Amino acid sequence: MGVVIFMSIYILKPLTFMFLPIILYLFHVILRDLWRVNRKLSCHGPPTYPIIGCLISFYKNRNHLLDWYTELLTESATNTIVVHRFGAPRTIVTANPENVEYMLKTNFNNFPKGKRFTEILGDFLGFGIFNVDGELWRSQRKLASHEFSAKSLRELAMNTLEEEVEKQLLPLLESLAAAKEVVDLQELLRRLAFNMVCEVSLGIDRFCLDPSQPISPLAKAFDMASEVCARRGAAPLFIVWKIKRWLGLGSEQKLKDAVEEVHAYVNDIIQHRKQKMNQRDQVCSEDDLLSRFISAGHEDEIIRDMMISFIMAGRDTTSAAMTWFFWLLSCHPDTEQEVLKEIESVAGDTEMLDYESLKELKLLKACLCESMRLYPPVAWDSKHAMVDDLLPDGTPVNAGDRLTYFPYGMGRMEALWGKDRLEFKPDRWFLEPDKEKSGALKEVCPYKFPVFQAGPRVCLGKEMAFTQMKYVVASILRRFEFRPVGSESPLFVPLLTAHMAGGFKVLVHRRR
Ligand code: HEM
Repeated sequence: MGVVIFMSIYILKPLTFMFLPIILYLFHVILRDLWRVNRKLSCHGPPTYPIIGCLISFYKNRNHLLDWYTELLTESATNTIVVHRFGAPRTIVTANPENVEYMLKTNFNNFPKGKRFTEILGDFLGFGIFNVDGELWRSQRKLASHEFSAKSLRELAMNTLEEEVEKQLLPLLESLAAAKEVVDLQELLRRLAFNMVCEVSLGIDRFCLDPSQPISPLAKAFDMASEVCARRGAAPLFIVWKIKRWLGLGSEQKLKDAVEEVHAYVNDIIQHRKQKMNQRDQVCSEDDLLSRFISAGHEDEIIRDMMISFIMAGRDTTSAAMTWFFWLLSCHPDTEQEVLKEIESVAGDTEMLDYESLKELKLLKACLCESMRLYPPVAWDSKHAMVDDLLPDGTPVNAGDRLTYFPYGMGRMEALWGKDRLEFKPDRWFLEPDKEKSGALKEVCPYKFPVFQAGPRVCLGKEMAFTQMKYVVASILRRFEFRPVGSESPLFVPLLTAHMAGGFKVLVHRRR
């Protein structure tokens, strides 16, 4: 008896005190989840249980999340679902244009990217435009919009394109065709896009295009940093990468090294450019973005982060869009012939297309839009709610919720694109599809097709991207055709920017 009294006083009591907080916490989690499930009843979403949320079905579908979400969105009456998953904030995924307009424009201030997003990319992108909200974003956006609309930047982009395509890309394709070698077109286009964005942003020399040659150290460091950041974003529990970062382990150490390399490289370029500009008595003779930001008097760190943001934004997006475009075209030889006909009629006898004639390539633009509808370079993108809100379709939003607009799913909604939504049909972009292809293109609502985002934060490089893609595609198609090696359908993988799993292996042929 004495022993029992001794145990209850000296052992069990302290244990109760130790476990009480844990018991209370679990009780709180169960109650909170029951409340959330109750609140969720009115919204569509995956099967959800207290505490774990939809973890089981999420795990089952982890290798095809895009199609799983698309299926769930199709089943939802308002094309919106609510996802509760252990370890992640309540997430509203929407393919409803009214909701998209509300979050990206109408109530823009309530839906910043948020700390949860900017934390993932913060080590790499710092305070660059891509990764900041509020005043920091507003001031960079203002300056950058001004520069992007400058005629001289457009001219620089055209000159860069001509140099890169005529002197590098076409001769390389010529030699690949002669050697009958298989080439990874995706990698080739990535290198091309990297070179072009580096030249427009930093005004630096070109790196090697040939995929059989080693990739440049700068591009390699960029690849490593974006890959680790993408993995951070996909990790089921944030705390894991944070502990790894704190301890300097594995991928987190690789990220640190890669970021140091990128920073050193860009800092070096900034210092050289400043010296050059000082020697010329502050007169800026270069047209690239770097010189413009230096002239505007920004601090070095801000300039560095802005440059990194621009390179990130402009590099893998156009190459992803063109890779899927070429694949789709290889599956639709009739459309390829029509596009070629259009290019020949616009180009006539001229070797190179100029800025004005690129605007006339309407069928080509329709094909690019159609391929980005099915395979958007940015498959999904999220914001985080500042305060409680209500979406136009009646979905309640809690402060801290993640809101994801979903271009991949939107491109596959019957409600938006009709029964033939899964087919590649460039005609749907014309006002009158049955008439001649020279007819006008439709003004499609950007909230129905938010491939470049929309509203105040719409992609700054949209026009530059179309110019670049049209020029590159037209220059290639006039001279070469690609025959895919292998017949299986490629896999669309959404990392920070989407890509084709395993690359796009093709044989290059000179067009007769
Ligand atoms: C097909 C090509 C492209 C697509 C589909 C695309 C798409 C997008 C999307 C979806 C965003 C919003 C991302 C977010 O806020 O998380 C964005 C932002 C941005 N894009 Fe693009 N982009 C493309 C090409 C380019 C190019 C070539 C450049 C410039 C060199 C560029 C510069 C930017 C910048 C600076 C932003 C940040 C705008 C801001 O936050 O205010 N983009 N783009």
